[in-house]
Amino acid sequence: MALHAITSFLLFSTLTVLMLFNNLAAFPTPLTFNVVDFGTKPNNAETDSSKALQLAWMHACSSSKPATIYVPKAKFYVRSATFNGPCKNNHITIRIDGALMAPSDFHLTSNSENWILFHNVNGVTVLGGILDGQGTQLWACKNSANTCPRGTTSLEFTNSQNILVNGLTALNSQLYHIVVNQCRNVKMQGLKVSAAGNSPNTDGIHVGDSSHVTILNTNIRTGDDCISIGPGSSNLWIENIACGPGHGISIGSLAKDFKEKGVQNVTVKSCKFMDTQNGVRIKSWGRQSIGFARNIRFQHLTMTNVQNPIIIDQNYCPHNQGCPGQSSGVAVSDVKYTDIRGTSATPVAIKFDCSPKFPCKGIKLEDVKLSYKNQVAKASCSNAQGLNVGVVQPMGCFKGN
Ligand SMILES: *[C@@H]1O[C@H](CO)[C@@H](O)[C@H](O)[C@H]1NC(C)=O
Repeated sequence: MALHAITSFLLFSTLTVLMLFNNLAAFPTPLTFNVVDFGTKPNNAETDSSKALQLAWMHACSSSKPATIYVPKAKFYVRSATFNGPCKNNHITIRIDGALMAPSDFHLTSNSENWILFHNVNGVTVLGGILDGQGTQLWACKNSANTCPRGTTSLEFTNSQNILVNGLTALNSQLYHIVVNQCRNVKMQGLKVSAAGNSPNTDGIHVGDSSHVTILNTNIRTGDDCISIGPGSSNLWIENIACGPGHGISIGSLAKDFKEKGVQNVTVKSCKFMDTQNGVRIKSWGRQSIGFARNIRFQHLTMTNVQNPIIIDQNYCPHNQGCPGQSSGVAVSDVKYTDIRGTSATPVAIKFDCSPKFPCKGIKLEDVKLSYKNQVAKASCSNAQGLNVGVVQPMGCFKGN
């Protein structure tokens, strides 16, 4: 009896071990390439890690199996890194426990548009990590009105698809923090973006000419738009963003060019705006264009001390150059604002300044409550057609719908 028990146990254990082994064989640990193994030194500002990153990428990209590039917990100084595809596999993970640091001397990067660029990739995940653009010297240069270089975008994906960015922190970029350009199927979640409130052109996340981009659970404090959406963008989902300081979430600027793709199907949901210049904005130059913005939803938004909580501005013409006398060709239609609450920092909380040539159509305000100094704020409209539904304070001043 006892012997039988022991035999069964042994047999069982052997089976268990075999099963485990089998499982491991079915899911092999992916190849991992640690940047430190490619000839760079952590925590050393004199050592440029660009080449080590590039070498690790070459290995990961030419592997036919899933591969991970690992950046350990330390600072790595990087002048610029471009990760080009196409690759031999569609499962490359870049796991960053540490920080990638741009040179603090902006002259070292000012010749390139990008600091870290992914181009032509498919199936790339960036996990964790800090990207520090060290932009303070360039901002100071720009803010003191000297002639300064434009600066570099910290992280850009261009011409790529199936991208996940999870838990990344982007700090103090010289220019835009993150750009998604000509991409499809991009998800970003749990990000932190942070730069000084007076830092010029440091947009948090810019999406242009891309579709199926989702941005979730992200905290953005910056000197320009928290999120900006450029021409050619469609099927965007933006949810649970805390924005401020910054210029808010903006569709535009549109009508920069005459031949321009439109923006459609954008949802901005459950976001909080604190002390921002705008809440949600649609902005176009007062210029001819074949572009459009349609099927846009703004839902469940909280405004705290926001200068323009709801704004459509189609007469954007900085320095009055190239636009005076023209009206925007961008047709804005089907824009729904639902459950927008909070405080405006100026008397006019809702502003629809639409094109005389293409009045805004199908605007809907539903359950909106915006106050200024404990009183109902004001709305101002020109060339706007739409509807008020439910309790709307202030009421939209539409002419027809
Ligand atoms: C709009 O975009 C969402 C993703 O944000 C997508 O799920 C939905 O199918 C799109 N709707 C249309 C009509 O394309």
